Amino acid sequence: MKNTATLRDYQHVRLLAIRSLFEIVEQSSEGTVIVDRDARIVWMNERYARRYGLDEANQAIGQDVEKVIPSSLLRQVVETGEPILLDMLDTPGGPLVVMRLPVHDDDGEVIGAIGFALFDQLKNLAPLVTRFMQIQEELASTRSLLQARQAKYSFAHFIGNSAASLEVKRRARRSAASESPVLLLGETGTGKELLAHAIHSASPRAHRPFVSVNCAAIPESLLEAEFFGTAPGAFTGADRKGRPGKLQIAQGGTLFLDEIGDMPLALQSKLLRVLQEKEFEAVGSNEVRRSDIRLIAATSLDLEQAIQVGTFRADLYYRLNVLPIQLPPLRERLDDLPALCETILDEIPGHHELDAEAVALLASHAWPGNVRELRNVLERTALLSDEPRLGAAALRSAIGRLVPLPQQRPATSTPQVAVGNFHAAREAFERELIRQALAEHSGNVQQAAARLGLGRSTLYKKMVALGLSS
Ligand SMILES: Nc1ncnc2c1ncn2[C@@H]1O[C@H](COP(=O)(O)OP(=O)(O)OP(=O)(O)O)[C@@H](O)[C@H]1O
Ligand SMILES: [Mg+2]
Repeated sequence: MKNTATLRDYQHVRLLAIRSLFEIVEQSSEGTVIVDRDARIVWMNERYARRYGLDEANQAIGQDVEKVIPSSLLRQVVETGEPILLDMLDTPGGPLVVMRLPVHDDDGEVIGAIGFALFDQLKNLAPLVTRFMQIQEELASTRSLLQARQAKYSFAHFIGNSAASLEVKRRARRSAASESPVLLLGETGTGKELLAHAIHSASPRAHRPFVSVNCAAIPESLLEAEFFGTAPGAFTGADRKGRPGKLQIAQGGTLFLDEIGDMPLALQSKLLRVLQEKEFEAVGSNEVRRSDIRLIAATSLDLEQAIQVGTFRADLYYRLNVLPIQLPPLRERLDDLPALCETILDEIPGHHELDAEAVALLASHAWPGNVRELRNVLERTALLSDEPRLGAAALRSAIGRLVPLPQQRPATSTPQVAVGNFHAAREAFERELIRQALAEHSGNVQQAAARLGLGRSTLYKKMVALGLSS
C-alpha cells in the first residue's frame, strides 16, 4: 500500500529510478571511468585500471583518456554531448560491451562524461548476441548467394575479331546501356550465355544479382513456382513458409531466361504480363508484386517458326525482339579460330600449341557445336597429348566425325566480284544470290528462302543486314 502511494509521485519515482539505474549499472560494471570536459581522466575504478596494465587507478588521473584507453570514444561524447548507449570496445582482456554518457551540470552544460564497461562475458547478453549471430549468419548467406549470382563473364571473355564478332560485341555493348529486353539468338555453343553475363556486367545493374533460369531444364510443373515463388501455405511440407522465385531474387538485377523457346505457353502469358505491367503474383497468392528486372532471353530455336507452329506467342516474341542479337556460327567466322584457339589453349595447363596442319584442319571443319565443340576438342587433344605441340592427327581423332564446310550452292550465273576484302566479297556474293532468288520468285521471301535452303527468318535477317529489305 505504502509503495503504491509512493510510486504515484512521478518525480520521486524518477529519482529512485535514476539511483537504482546508476547503482545497478555501476555494480554490474567491469569498469567505470569518468573524464572532464577536456577528456582527461578524473576517476577510474581499480579493476579497470588493472585491465589496462596500471598498478593502481591513481596513475590514470589527469591523463588524456586515450593514453590509458586507446580506443575510447569518451572525447567524442564530451564534444558532441551525445551518449553512446551500446558499443563494443576492444580491450587487452577481450571485448567489452560499453555504455558512454555525457555528464551535465545544473545548467545543462556538458562538464564531462562517464563510461561503463558493462559486461565482459557476453553470456549476460545472450538474447542480444543470439539475435546478432542470427543476423550475421543471414548476412553471410545472403552475401554468398549474391556472390553466386554475380555474372561470371565480361566482354573481354568474348573472343573474336572477325567483322561478325565485332558487330555482335558492338550491339551487345549498346544493349548493356539500355533497359529493354535483349534477345540472343544463335546455334548451340555460339556464346549466348557468355554474352548474357557480359551484358549484365557492363550494365548499370552490374552490382545487382544476375539470375539464370533454364526454361528447358526445369519440369513444366515446377517452372511457375521457380519463376514467381510460392506464397506461405501454398504447399504443405518444406515449402510451407513460401519460397522466393527467381523473379524476386533478381529484383533490381538481370533475369536471364535461357532456352526461352522451350517455355510453356501458359508461362509465356505470365511473362508477358511481367514485361508489360511489371507485376506478378507468387503461386498461391493474390498479392500483386512489382517487378524490377532487366530481361535477357536466349534461344537456339527459330522463334518465328515456333510461332507458326503455335508453340510460341507472337506478342511475347515482339516484346522480346526489341534488341535481337544474332550470334554467328563459328563456320561463318573462321577468322576467329586462331584467337579462340590461343585463348582456350592458354586456359589449359601444359602450354600447348597447334602446328600448321592442325590449324588447317580446324579451318576445314564446320563446327556444328561451335565454340563449345572447339573447346572440347582442344581440351581432349591436350589431355591425351604428351607433347606441347598438337598435330592434325590428334585433333582429327578428337573431332570424331569431320563435318565439311557447306559448299555455296552454285547460282545460275556466278556473280562476278573483285578480289579484295573477304567479307566485302562475301557480302556482295550473298546480296547478288539473294537478289536473284527473290527475282525468280517475284519477291516472295518464303519461296526465295525455300529455294536457297534457308529459313524464312534467316533470309529476312540477311536481307535487312544487306540492305535488301525494301
Ligand atoms: N566468342 C567466344 N569467346 C570465347 N569463348 C566462347 C565464345 N563463345 C562461346 N564460348 C565458350 O563456348 C562455350 C559455350 O558457350 P555458351 O554456353 O555461352 O553457348 P550457348 O550459345 O549458350 O550454347 P547453348 O545454346 O548450347 O546453351 C562456353 O565455354 C563459352 O565460354
Ligand atoms: Mg546456353
